Parts: sequence; C-alpha cells; structure tokens
Amino acid sequence: MSPSDRNLRRHDGTVQRRDREILLGQRGGVVWFTGLSGSGKSTIARQLEAALHQDGRLVYVLDGDNLRHGLCADLGFDAAARTENIRRVSHLAALFADAGALVLTAFISPFRADRAAARAVIGTSDFVEVFVDAPLATCEARDPKGLYKKARAGQIAEFTGISSPYEAPERADLHLRNADRPLAEVVAEVQALLADRGFLRPPA
Ligand code: ADX
Repeated sequence: MSPSDRNLRRHDGTVQRRDREILLGQRGGVVWFTGLSGSGKSTIARQLEAALHQDGRLVYVLDGDNLRHGLCADLGFDAAARTENIRRVSHLAALFADAGALVLTAFISPFRADRAAARAVIGTSDFVEVFVDAPLATCEARDPKGLYKKARAGQIAEFTGISSPYEAPERADLHLRNADRPLAEVVAEVQALLADRGFLRPPA
C-alpha cells in the first residue's frame, strides 16, 4: 500500500537541512563501510569518528553489532533478514544525514542489491561507499570475536565468507586494502575523500 493509500503525507518545518548544515559548518552524509567480519570496518569507523570529532565535526557511528542489540534485535542472518537490516539502517542513516550529521555505518552488508538500495534511499551525492578489503584468510586469522572458529565448527549458520556469500563492491567510492596498513593512514585516506567531496564545509 502506498503512503497516500494509508492517508500519510510528508510535512516539513521551516528549519531546513541546509540551515542545520550551515549551523554545523558541514554537509550531512553517510560513509558506508562494507566488508567481511573482521575486515576492520568498526575499527576504522571508530578511529575516523575520533578524528572528525577532534576536528569539530558532528559525527555518529552506526554499527551492526550495536544496532542488532536494539532496533534490529529481531533480525537474524538469512538473506531476507540482512536485507531488512540494511533497509532499516539506510533509513536511519538518511535521517541522521538530514539532521546534518556525518554518519559512519559499519555493516557487513554483503549483498550488492542491498547496498544499491541503501544508496538510493540515502541519495548518491550523500553516499560514500567504502570497501574495507581484507582477504578472508586475514579476517579468519584475526578472528577478533572467535566467530570464524565457531562457523568452521558448524556452530554458526550462514556465516559471511564461510557459508553465506559476500558480494564485493565493483565500483566503490573508495577501495581500502586493509590487510597490513597502519590504521592512521587508512583513516586519513577516508578523511581526505570527505574533504574532497565537500562534506567538511558548509553548503554554498
Ligand atoms: S549484515 O550482514 O546484516 O550487514 P551486520 O553487520 O549487521 O551484518 O552484523 C554482523 C555481525 O554480527 C558480525 O560482525 C558478527 O559479530 C555477528 N554475526 C553473528 N552471526 C553472523 C553471521 N551468520 N554472519 C555474519 N556475522 C554474524
């Protein structure tokens, strides 16, 4: 059923997104980190959050493990649940961006179609897709939460990279190879891209 069939109509206040962005001296937007579990998405997002905050930016991290404790606590890991997870997160991130914040999302988001849907919800000019690319063997060796070990032992079903696919981005805005590079260097690269795309200054 469409929103109008359900008697729903959007309404706006007199304070616009642009006003908030001018107040904050930045543009709202979403940096969408995607990659295997253990590839470094959350670590990079947290370090980037600290760097941007230090630089006087309003920045907020949305992280898979955290959201699955609340907003997405009802969702599992089959394909439909992941699609719904990413759908909710993309709408949430779009609202944060509309509030003028820089949002850093850290979700495996393994399916291309789901990431394309997120881009459509958020809007291409507000969406920066960053592929955190570490080989499966590296992620498995790191195994920060011991989940690969459990997945190999058959204790976790549909584990990404083991028994559920990861569809790598074909044209990410940034392809970060994250096997053996210093964190500070990786973070600086994303920060430079944000500056380049105009997110770190108010709208003209
Ligand atoms: S996503 O695929 O829907 O984007 P999300 O990023 O929210 O996943 O959650 C991934 C996290 O959930 C992993 O970092 C890991 O800690 C945990 N997890 C538990 N079960 C699985 C599973 N079957 N596959 C992948 N991650 C899982």
